[in-house]
Amino acid sequence: MKVLGIETSCDETGIAIYDPAAGLVAEALFSQNDTHARYGGVVPELACRDHIARSAPLLCQVVADAGLTLQDLDAIAYTAGPGLVGALMVGGSLAASLAFGLGIPALPVHHMEAHLLAAMLEDDAPDFPFLALLVSGGHTLLVRAQGLGTYVTVGNTLDDAAGEAFDKVARMLSLPYPGGAALAELAAAGDPEAFDFPRPMKNRGLDFSFSGLKTAVRLKLESETARGAAGGMNGSLYANIAASFQAAVVDTLVQKSIKAMAMTGLDRLVVAGGVGANKKLRQRLTAAGKQQGFRVYYPRPAYCTDNGAMIAYAGWCHHGTVAPGVPSILARPRWSLDELALQR
Ligand code: KG4
Ligand code: ZN
Repeated sequence: MKVLGIETSCDETGIAIYDPAAGLVAEALFSQNDTHARYGGVVPELACRDHIARSAPLLCQVVADAGLTLQDLDAIAYTAGPGLVGALMVGGSLAASLAFGLGIPALPVHHMEAHLLAAMLEDDAPDFPFLALLVSGGHTLLVRAQGLGTYVTVGNTLDDAAGEAFDKVARMLSLPYPGGAALAELAAAGDPEAFDFPRPMKNRGLDFSFSGLKTAVRLKLESETARGAAGGMNGSLYANIAASFQAAVVDTLVQKSIKAMAMTGLDRLVVAGGVGANKKLRQRLTAAGKQQGFRVYYPRPAYCTDNGAMIAYAGWCHHGTVAPGVPSILARPRWSLDELALQR
C-alpha cells in the first residue's frame, strides 16, 4: 500500500509517500521561511499562494523520485487542520481532486496527531499508551495517548505556545523568523544562569503560560541596553539572554513533563513538534527520564518540524476508517485532539 501525504497547514509544503512494506519511499519539503522572514511572521495570503504554486509540482517530483506513477498510489492523506484555513484548503483541494480522479480515498489528517505519531517512523518506535509533549509554533500540549486516535489533553498553554515564545524572543534579539533554531544556536554561546527569568506556572497543575516570561525578557533586554551593556557588548548580552530564556522554557517543559508522567503513571514520553528539535530540551528530558524511570522517544529533528512524512504515515494509520466515494474537503482551522476520540 502506498499513501501519499500532503502537508500545507502553515508555511511548509511537505509531500511524502509512505509504504508500510518499505517505509518512507520518497519525500520533499519546501519551506517558505524566506517569503515570511521580512514580515517577522507568517502572512497567510502569501502562504496560500506559495502552496498553490509549489504543491502540485512537488507532488509530481516525489512520485517520480519514488519511481512510481500516480496510478500506483492507494490513498492521499492531507492535513485537514488545525492551521491556516486557506493553506489547508490548498492541500485539501489537491488531495480530494487527485483522489477523486484516481478513484482512491482522500484521508483527512489532524496535524497535531501526525506530529504525535512522527516518532513511530523511527526504528526505535514507541508503543501506546504514552504521554506526548507536543511543542510547536502554535501548540504546547501534554497529551495522554491511549491508543491510535484516542487522546486526552492533560496540559495546555494559556497564552503563547513554546515555539511562539522562541520566535518572539528571537525577534527581540534581531534573529530572522522563525527564530527558534537560531536562538538555540545563539544560546550555545551564552550563560544560561546570566539572568534568572521566571519559570511560569511552576507549581500550578500541568498548564503552561509563556507570555509573562516573554515580557520579563523584553524588560531585561531594555534595562540592560539602557545600562549601556549594549556598547560593544551586544554579542554577549544577546547570547546570555538567549541562553537564560531557553533555560527557563526548557526547565518549565521538563518539570511539567515529569509531573505529568507521575500523574498519569505512564512510562513512555514522546516529544514532538518543532521545539522538540531543541538539543537542550532533548538532553534534559532524556536525563530526567533516566532519573525518574521513564523512556523518552523523539522523531529525528527533521520530523519534529512540519513535514509530509508524518502526514503520509498518519494517513496510513487511519486508512481503513474512510468510506470510499466522492471525497469531500475537510478544513478545520481549530480542531482539538480530544475530539478525535469522540468521532470514533
Ligand atoms: O511544528 P512546527 O514546524 O510548526 C507548527 O506546527 O507550528 O514548529 C515550528 C516552531 C517554530 O516556532 C520554531 O521556531 C520552533 O518550532 N523551533 C525551535 C527549534 N526548531 C524549530 N524552537 C527551539 N529550538 C529549536 N531547535
Ligand atoms: Zn506543526
